[in-house]
Amino acid sequence: MDTLTFLGIESSCDDTAAAVLRGSEVLSSVVEGQAALHAAFGGVVPEIAARAHAERLDICIEAALAQAGVTLADLDGIAVTAGPGLIGGVLSGVMCAKGLAAATGLPLVGVNHLAGHALTPRLTDGVEYPYLMLLISGGHCQFLTVRGPEDFSRIGGSIDDAPGEAFDKTAKLLGLPQPGGPEVEREAAKGDPKRFAFPRPLLDRPGCDMSFSGLKTALLRQRDALVAAQGGLTRADRADICAGFQQAVADVLVEKTRRALKVSDAKVLAVAGGVAANTLIRAGLQRVAAEARAEYVAPPLRLCTDNAAMIAWAGMERFRMGARDGMDLAARPRWPLDTTAAPLIGSGKKGAKA
Ligand code: KG4
Ligand code: ZN
Repeated sequence: MDTLTFLGIESSCDDTAAAVLRGSEVLSSVVEGQAALHAAFGGVVPEIAARAHAERLDICIEAALAQAGVTLADLDGIAVTAGPGLIGGVLSGVMCAKGLAAATGLPLVGVNHLAGHALTPRLTDGVEYPYLMLLISGGHCQFLTVRGPEDFSRIGGSIDDAPGEAFDKTAKLLGLPQPGGPEVEREAAKGDPKRFAFPRPLLDRPGCDMSFSGLKTALLRQRDALVAAQGGLTRADRADICAGFQQAVADVLVEKTRRALKVSDAKVLAVAGGVAANTLIRAGLQRVAAEARAEYVAPPLRLCTDNAAMIAWAGMERFRMGARDGMDLAARPRWPLDTTAAPLIGSGKKGAKA
């Protein structure tokens, strides 16, 4: 098979990204975050994001081509995130990609951002189909059986908050900085996970769906009870709350993953997203994978968080299947990977970042 060289473009949330791949070799991966632009607003402002993408996309693309040591003439195609995401940002990327395709005559391939995440274990570890994918980030939480570049079955996920979102809210409630995951983990290492009893939401129900928003409420009540009783939290209280919370999230994720491995009967468990960096959660997932005799695969974090290398890869996979998009490629704010699964109410409420 010929080795393809692809440019990937990503602009669906608050990272402007461009990358060049030659086969599975990442020649360059440029990611420009917009955190500073949104910091004052307590969340991503879609209009600001869209304008920043429009201003920075060509600069990122030039940087990605230069770092890869290629020109547009060396490319075999252009892959671009066509959704789901903040529509202004997605449109910026799609328009940019169409302009490049029209000017160069290169083939254009639209990519589902979630497919980008879900296919990353194939880019980084050469994982064969089918495999079980667990996406756990600040905006996403779902199990997918991945059977092909366009063949995904959703077998469960969070019905409310994503786990990273729960970590971030926990940090906020306890006066810890953002992003909350690493901070809560650091506190938890000093705490007693058994001192406070946190719920294990939906663990008593069959299936692979999860819920994390109730944990945050339990935590808030616990914090307020301590404050009312003793006038504030000690360092030990905070560490114990973090440890109890982290243990509850880990227990739910681990048990639901055990079930998902059974349902999908996959021989590989691939995990992506910032939450997979958590040592307790990772150890639990590795344990259930070993129990199910499944291989555990976790791509490096820089390719798990939003980037354009995963978009270039997913685009190449679609391209090899014969997929080509035209100038009518639409930017889609919503685009479920599994169109047969029931739609979710408010999964990943933090926003469109996935
Ligand atoms: O995948 P990611 O970098 O970005 C997206 O959300 O798309 O995930 C970020 C999320 C944040 O919510 C962060 O708090 C969480 O992952 N996170 C962690 C840890 N490191 C990052 N959660 C728990 N433990 C960690 N060590
Ligand atoms: Zn994402």
